[in-house]
Amino acid sequence: MKTVPFFRIELSEAEIAEVVDTLRSGWLTTGPKTRRFEEAFAASVGATHALALNSCTAALHVAVEALGLGPGDGVLVPTMTFAATAEVVRYLSGVPVLVDCEPGTCNIDLGHAEQILADHGKGIRAPGMSAGSRIVGVMPVHYGGDMVDVGAVRTLAARHGLWVVEDAAHAFPAAWRPSEDAPWQRCGDNTGDVTCFSFYANKTITTGEGGMAVTSSPELADRMRRMSLHGLSHDAWGRYTSSGAWDYRIVDAGYKYNLTDIASALGLHQLRRAEELRQARETRAGWYTARLGASREVMVPASRSTRRHAWHLYPIQLRTEALAVTRDQVMSGLRSNGVTASVHWRPLHLHPYYKERFGYAAGHCPAATAVFDRNLSLPLFPGLTVDEVDYVVAALQRACEVPATV
Ligand SMILES: Cc1ncc(COP(=O)(O)O)c(C=O)c1O
Repeated sequence: MKTVPFFRIELSEAEIAEVVDTLRSGWLTTGPKTRRFEEAFAASVGATHALALNSCTAALHVAVEALGLGPGDGVLVPTMTFAATAEVVRYLSGVPVLVDCEPGTCNIDLGHAEQILADHGKGIRAPGMSAGSRIVGVMPVHYGGDMVDVGAVRTLAARHGLWVVEDAAHAFPAAWRPSEDAPWQRCGDNTGDVTCFSFYANKTITTGEGGMAVTSSPELADRMRRMSLHGLSHDAWGRYTSSGAWDYRIVDAGYKYNLTDIASALGLHQLRRAEELRQARETRAGWYTARLGASREVMVPASRSTRRHAWHLYPIQLRTEALAVTRDQVMSGLRSNGVTASVHWRPLHLHPYYKERFGYAAGHCPAATAVFDRNLSLPLFPGLTVDEVDYVVAALQRACEVPATV
C-alpha cells in the first residue's frame, strides 16, 4: 500500500555540510553561527532585535516574562492553539483567558476578545479571573501560517492598554496588509511587542528544535537575552572567547533556553531557502484547492489577497452535516489508506486541564467547539508530489463516503 506521511524532512547536502562544519569547528553551543542566524533572521523579517532560543515555547516564555506578566494577571489566548501559548502564562502564575475562533480562518475572534474585555470592565469575570485582577496582554496565533488581522489586534490592544505577543510558530515567512493597495507588512516586522517563531522539525524552516523572539524594544530584547541564559549579566559566548571576561554576575533567576551553533548552522541555510520553501508549500496547497475547492464534502482554507500565507498547514473542515461519517472516522479511513493526517487542534477549552482547573466547558467557545468536530490537516510539505496529492484526495473522498472498518 502507498503511504503519504504528514511531513517528510528533506535537507540539502549544503545544510548537512554546514552542520558537519560546525561539529568540526570546535564551537558547538551558542556562538558565531547563532549570532549570524539572529542577524540574518532579523533582517529577513524586518525586526530590530532577534534572539535565537531552543524553542518557540521558550521564546513565548521569555517574552511574557519580559513584559512583566505576574500572578493572577489575565492574558487573552485563542482557544484554537497548541499547549505552548497558554502554558507559558501558567509558568508565571498568570491566567489564560480563552478566546473563541473565527469559524473560517480559525484565528482569534477579536469580537469575542472585545466582549470578554467589556464584561471584565463590568465585573463579569472570565474563568480563573478574580476580583481586582487585570487583563494585561493578548497572544494572537497565526493559525496554519494565515496571519491574523494585525492592525485590528493593535487597535484592540491600544484601546485596552494590552501588550501583544504574537505566536508566529506557523508564520515564517508570512505577511499581511490591510487592503490590496497597502504595502505588505512582514510577520515579525515590529508588529507586536514580541513575535515568536518556531523551528521545530516540521515547521516552515527548521533547526530540529528551535525558536526566535523578535522585538523593536531594546529593553525587552535585553531582558529576554538575560533571562534565556540563567539571568547572567552576559552570555556564554562572551565568557569563553578570548575577548570575554570570566566574571559574570547572576542578576536574576533565569532559564536555560539558548540555541546551539549546531542548530543555527541548519537555520542559516534554511533561512536562505525560506521563500523558495514557502512557494513550494503554496503550490501544493493550490493543488489541493484545485481538487477539493468544489467538493461537497469539505471546505478548503481560504487564500486571501491581503495575506502572504506561510502554509505550514493545509487545514480542511468536513461538511459533517452532509456526511454519514464523523471526522474521527475520516481520520481512520485516511490512516487505513496509508495517509497520515492530523488535527489542529482539540481547542484548549476542551482539554482536561482547562476544564478542571478553570471550569471551561464546550459553550465557552462555541465556534471552536464546532470546528473541532470538523477539522483535519492534510499532509503538506515542500517535497509532496502531485501523485501524492492525488492519492491523498482520492483517499479522502473514499473516507468521506464509507465508515472505516478499522
Ligand atoms: C501555535 C504554536 N505555538 C507554539 C508552538 C511551540 O513551538 P516549539 O515546539 O518550537 O516550542 C507550537 C508547536 O507546534 C505551535 O503550533
